Formats: sequence, C-alpha cells, structure tokens
Amino acid sequence: MVAFLLTLSAISPPNAWAAQSPAGTSQSAPDKATTDRAPTDKAVLDQARAVQPTESQPQPPAGKVERLADEVRYQPSVIPDRIVLTLIDDARSSAAISWRTSAKVNRGLLEFTVADDGPYFSERSQQLIATTTPLTTTVNEAHCHTVKLSQLQPGTVYSYRVGDGENWSEWLQFRTAAEKPEPFSFIYFGDAQNNLRSLWSRVIREAYRDAPKAAFLLHAGDLINNAEADPEWGEWFEAGGFINGMIPNLAVPGNHELAKAADGSRHTTIHWRPQFEFPLNGPPGLEETCYTLTYHNLRLIALNSNEQLDVQAKWLEIVLALNDSEWVICTFHHPVFSTGQGRDNEQLRRLWKPIFDKYRVDLVLQGHDHTYGRTGLHVPSVADWKQAIEEQRKLDPKGELNLPFGVQKLDENSGTVYVVSVSGPKMYNNSRPPFMPRVAEDTQLYQVIQIDGPVLRFEARTATGKLYDAFELKKNGNGPNQLVDLPVEVPPRLRPEKKTDK
Ligand SMILES: [Fe+2]
Repeated sequence: MVAFLLTLSAISPPNAWAAQSPAGTSQSAPDKATTDRAPTDKAVLDQARAVQPTESQPQPPAGKVERLADEVRYQPSVIPDRIVLTLIDDARSSAAISWRTSAKVNRGLLEFTVADDGPYFSERSQQLIATTTPLTTTVNEAHCHTVKLSQLQPGTVYSYRVGDGENWSEWLQFRTAAEKPEPFSFIYFGDAQNNLRSLWSRVIREAYRDAPKAAFLLHAGDLINNAEADPEWGEWFEAGGFINGMIPNLAVPGNHELAKAADGSRHTTIHWRPQFEFPLNGPPGLEETCYTLTYHNLRLIALNSNEQLDVQAKWLEIVLALNDSEWVICTFHHPVFSTGQGRDNEQLRRLWKPIFDKYRVDLVLQGHDHTYGRTGLHVPSVADWKQAIEEQRKLDPKGELNLPFGVQKLDENSGTVYVVSVSGPKMYNNSRPPFMPRVAEDTQLYQVIQIDGPVLRFEARTATGKLYDAFELKKNGNGPNQLVDLPVEVPPRLRPEKKTDK
C-alpha cells in the first residue's frame, strides 16, 4: 500500500498534494495518528482520491512533449549497446560477443573471467581488444566491436563486460556447453519483423521466461522490416535486452534483410556482418549467412534462402554426407511448403528437398509466411507445386470432390517435419495445407525444442506461453523417425472467414 501511495504521489503535481493534504500533513512527514496504526483500505482509498486533480485545478498543458524520433532514440553513444553473444564454432570452448558504440570509441575492450558467486571475480579478469568495424547507416555513424573467445572451459559460467576502459556495460554471464552430451533445449523464432519494441518484445521475453537455460536462440530470418533501417535494428536489440548478452544467438537472413543498392542489385544488409559473428564455414560469398555447427548430438545447418540456392545445395550435400551427429535440423527463411496463401518457393523445394530426403533431415525450421504450419512425416512428393495443382484439376476439374490440395502423392519415405512460424505481429492468411495437422493465423509464437538423446520434443507456444503445438520425434534406426503428436492447450486459431491480409 505504501508503494501504491508513493506511485500516486509521483504522478500528482506537488502543489496539488500540498493543497489537498489534511492540514499539518505531508507525504514525507505523515502525522503520528496515521503512522501508529495500519490504515484501513477505505482510509487509504479516500486519501488517494483526495490527491487526484479535480476539474477546478489547473491541468498541465496538453501536447507539450513531442515524440522522440527513433533516429534520436537509437543514436549510438560511448556507452556500449546492442550487446549480442553468438556461437562461432564449438559451443564447449568458444563464443563471440559483439556490441556497438558511437564512432568516438576507437578501441573496444572486453573483460572476462570464470564467474564466481562472490563479487570479486573481476580482479582476475582478462582483457581483450576487439576488432572494430565502422558502420555508416542511413542515420548515424557507429563502431561495431567484436571479440571472439576461444579455449574456454566446457560447462562453465563466464562473466564478461564490454566497454572502452572508461565506459563499461554491466557484467553479463553465459555458460559454455558441457563437455559430454546432455539434454538441452533451444528457442526458435519465425519472423519478428514489425513493431519490434512494442509487440515482439513480449514474445522473446516470454520465451526466456519459459526456457531461461536455453542453449541458444535461433532466428529464421526477417528480424526487421527494412534491411538498412538502423532504428529497427535498435528496436530488435532493445526487445531482446540482456537476454541477447546471456544466451547465444544464431540467425539467417530473410528477404527483409536484403537491401537494394543504387544499381538495383541486392545484398544482405550492411548491419549483418558487423553486428553478428556467426561461423565462417559456408560457401564463399555467403559468409555468416550460410553456415553449420554442432551442439552436442545436433548438427544445425543454417541456409540463406535469398540467393545462390544451387551453390548451397552442393555445400549442403557435402555437409550432410560428412555428418555424424544424431540429429540434423536445417533452418532458413523461405518455406519448402508455404503456408502463406498464393505463395510458393518451387526452386528451393526442387533443389533442397531431395537432399533433405536423401539424408533424412529431421526437422526444417522456417519463417516468411506470417502464419503457423507444421507437417507430419508425410508431405507431397511432387517437386513442382504447379504440377500438383494441374494433377488436382485433372482429377477434380469442377472442384466438386473436395480433394485435398496437392496431396494425391504422399512421400512415404521423407520423414522430415517442416515448420513455418511467426513471432512478430504481422499476420497473413493461412493456405491451410491438408498435410499440416496444425496451423494457425493471427497468433504470435515461439518454439522450444528439446533434445534428449534419441528423443526430440517440439513445443510451439503462443505469446502468452500457452502450448499450441507439441510433438515428439523418436529415432528409429535407419528408418524415418517415429512422430508422436502430444496434447495441446489451445484449440486451432484460424480466422472465421478469409480476410485481406493485414
Ligand atoms: Fe516476413
């Protein structure tokens, strides 16, 4: 109740408080009668009402405070911001940390040490000098700093801070992967993209509340809406806040990370490489947008579905041929099976799906269609979606038989589960493919994926943490995985009728 009263006093003009308080009393020195005994609820409410401005009192002039422009709000300063921890190689022994400052800071420093339960750990910290990259955006000039850490101890909590020797971040902490495989989980986000500060923030924060020990966060593209808009990147980093500095991030670019040059050509946003540090083991020209790493018994393959699909197909085949990890998860932006109405990525499906089939990739995590959709183990076998439509028309020229669209031929052997998801507020109509047992519209989601030896548990949860989709995949020798659908908490969320996309 004390806090309640203090809050009220904070929003009330001081003179109003003085004018309305009982004679001889004040906020800081209440009379003895009220402090000697606990006030009743009614007394407290009466007192609270008494300090509210009345119509007869002068009101502050409206419209005095102008909206602070995002370009100003997200200006860099000498104080480090946009701190992000990423994985670059073996998560047991390495990590990278990147951050931003104004261009005044020419030398970035990182101090780190094994964390301790007491406060004196900083005395034994090591100092490293960052690699600094100038970044001239549409609205400002910044310096991006990165330090790669190697030779870390497995299963160990490290503390670190970043700065310039005078201005420092707080001490942040992260844990390296354990030496020997153990159960772990990670969080996957579809497109964040829009209203990042106001409406996406709750999703990443709820996900963190749900799985605070997650091994990493995985973003399947379209982190922002306008590739080169620095304030949007500012919103993305603000939404994640300290979480980004404590759980490693991994991301692939979506079509909204593609920027247009003056000559009309397209390139990955100039923000990508200076602000993130990802593995450098992809094909030349696709550095940090196409890469692979292992985490315990998982091989994660991140692909850039914006460009050079054929080059990546050859690279993917080599990575999978050499793979000896028990689980394989691929992630990229454009879906193999679109859930967005009228959308299709035929070339991608033709080039990549046969490789996923050949090597029995377990799970494919995608975005782009601003809806939710998840396949079972059986998906249409036709590589060309248009061919599926034509076959459908031949069988059912008037649309009277109500045949499921494009599923006359099911591929019984692929065994890959495909997921499309969305975490931000932009929403599309769902084409509701009949081979997807779980779909959603108008729902912000995050996914927690847990791997425990031969069992993978997948949970899609809504922005408020409710279980929307859940299944387990179990390893089954050399055959396709066993898929077990699990009970969920929320009935299907679909628009009652087709509406125009928002
Ligand atoms: Fe998108």
